[in-house]
Amino acid sequence: MCGIFGYVGKQNNAAQIVLEGLRLLEYRGYDSWGIAVKSGKKLMVNKQVGKIESAKTTLSASFLGIGHTRWATHGGVTENNAHPHLDCKQEIALVHNGIVENFVALKEELIIRGHSFNSETDTEVIVHLIEEYLKKEGFASSVRDSFNRLKGLNAIVVAYAVSRQIIACKTGSSLVVGQKNSDFYIASDALGITDHTKKLFFLKDGEMVILGEKLQLISIANGKKLKANFETIHWKQEDSKIGNFNHFMEKEIYEQPRVVRTIARTADQDIISLSRTIKRARGTFFIGAGTAFHACLAGTYLFSGIAKIHVNTAVASEFNYLEDFLTKESLIIALSQSGETIDVLEPLNRAKGKGSRIVALTNVLGSSLYRLADHSLILGAGVEKAVASTKAYTAKLALLLMLAHAMNGEIKKAKKNLLETSKEIQRLLSAPSRKNIRKIALVLKSSEHIYTIGRGVSYPTALEAALKIKEVSYIHTEGLAGGELKHGTLALVEKGTPCIVFAPNDDTYEAMISNAIEIKSRGGVIIGISTKKSSVFDYFIEVRDMGWARIIAQIIPAQLLAYYLAVERGCDPDKPRNLAKSVTVK
Ligand code: AGP
Ligand code: GLU
Repeated sequence: MCGIFGYVGKQNNAAQIVLEGLRLLEYRGYDSWGIAVKSGKKLMVNKQVGKIESAKTTLSASFLGIGHTRWATHGGVTENNAHPHLDCKQEIALVHNGIVENFVALKEELIIRGHSFNSETDTEVIVHLIEEYLKKEGFASSVRDSFNRLKGLNAIVVAYAVSRQIIACKTGSSLVVGQKNSDFYIASDALGITDHTKKLFFLKDGEMVILGEKLQLISIANGKKLKANFETIHWKQEDSKIGNFNHFMEKEIYEQPRVVRTIARTADQDIISLSRTIKRARGTFFIGAGTAFHACLAGTYLFSGIAKIHVNTAVASEFNYLEDFLTKESLIIALSQSGETIDVLEPLNRAKGKGSRIVALTNVLGSSLYRLADHSLILGAGVEKAVASTKAYTAKLALLLMLAHAMNGEIKKAKKNLLETSKEIQRLLSAPSRKNIRKIALVLKSSEHIYTIGRGVSYPTALEAALKIKEVSYIHTEGLAGGELKHGTLALVEKGTPCIVFAPNDDTYEAMISNAIEIKSRGGVIIGISTKKSSVFDYFIEVRDMGWARIIAQIIPAQLLAYYLAVERGCDPDKPRNLAKSVTVK
């Protein structure tokens, strides 16, 4: 789960080019970074722990460089564990995205052969393996033979001191090559490259590319030459500036009225065509991870309630173990902001192998998911930079709401509902509402635990509210279905335990108030997010009745609360510890 960037060509400032490229990829990992450039017949390396945002590199002029911004899987966040990793002779530099599942066995073998290791990473075995093969083969075949010995889903980019080439291989994570005349760029995604060139080539799994004077594409399995089909992309990479906001999370929360409004006004045709695809399918599944999974679950409730159709929902990383029954008639609708989440891509590849149809709801044009799906629908939320997903979540909900209504031929109802909801979101973001939520954040900021509960369509809201609060404020927060509390978790409620209760004006209201009373009777403090005040609420956030779109409106105060909790506790809501925006490892 990292950002990779490489450059080889006619320019002499490879380190700077790589550093700028890595900055754009930092959302993929930000615990440490490193760059290696070729300097004569040697490699020069610069590695640092910490974010790359304002980092500088002192590496000397070079026409070839590779770099990495890391999200550690194996080995702590240290300079030694940061990539690039070097072989014993310090002649080979390698950056890696993924997990070498058989690294322990390979490491033992290499140690017996006399290699000494500098890091705790799985990655380092690859560079020593290449060193071993280089004793009897050339650079390209050493990289290929080494890569063929790795288990797991991996992408690597390698530089060799005595070569004028960069070599890259992949089986899982994405790699994109860009070409401009004699300059070649390689990166984890197009975002790092499009500032230089629009002529792109997306590497497929099982391919190896050699970049130098020219480009050569080879099959990793059998070494045969392949043809690289470059495409000129016409999409413009959107930029996103923070403006007057303190954090991207805050900015993205504020963008939601516009996002919801735009979807209501523009998504009709795509949605109607997707509703026809669903009608033709025999068995439809929503899959997603984290926040996207919560949107999937919301979709199941919306489809049941509005369209009277059952759609299965699965956590993407579990779908691998649930897909034995998939057929050519099955339809999988994958939800993913980034379109790069490996937990989503992996089961989709398997499902594709069975001939099932794949539809993607993603925010990123050209992403791996976008390219893999038979049919893609862009969320249109605009660039989402904060790790905590907010506007992409509400965009997914808005599209699912429209889709559920479209199944009944009633898309107009959804549009009207969304336009009203956009106004309600605006009200929830107004100064008096923010003041109230900030006051509640001050009350909750020293809590050790928070519980969030909801029923029906508000159950996914409770899960999402909990995820949002915990990931940015580091307060343990657990989301539950209202009815589940007394099946175990209620044991944890004691005097002062805060519980956020979603009680909209629907058939869950009475039961939710009963649950709130049960918690209060045990000393809990109730924060009610509801259409009407209740005497059981210690604190109250009003969300007006938005019909089905309540699922969108009622998450807004929870997002704001999470944001204020992070700020009050001195946490960086845009880059929470241990996380990355794009999750490209299993
Ligand atoms: C959201 O706040 C999280 N950071 C995370 O759960 C995220 O939604 C998840 O990793 C899925 O990402 P995706 O939508 O890009 O696939
Ligand atoms: N597994 C490697 C490591 O822990 C690579 C992780 C990544 O993809 O950033 O360093």
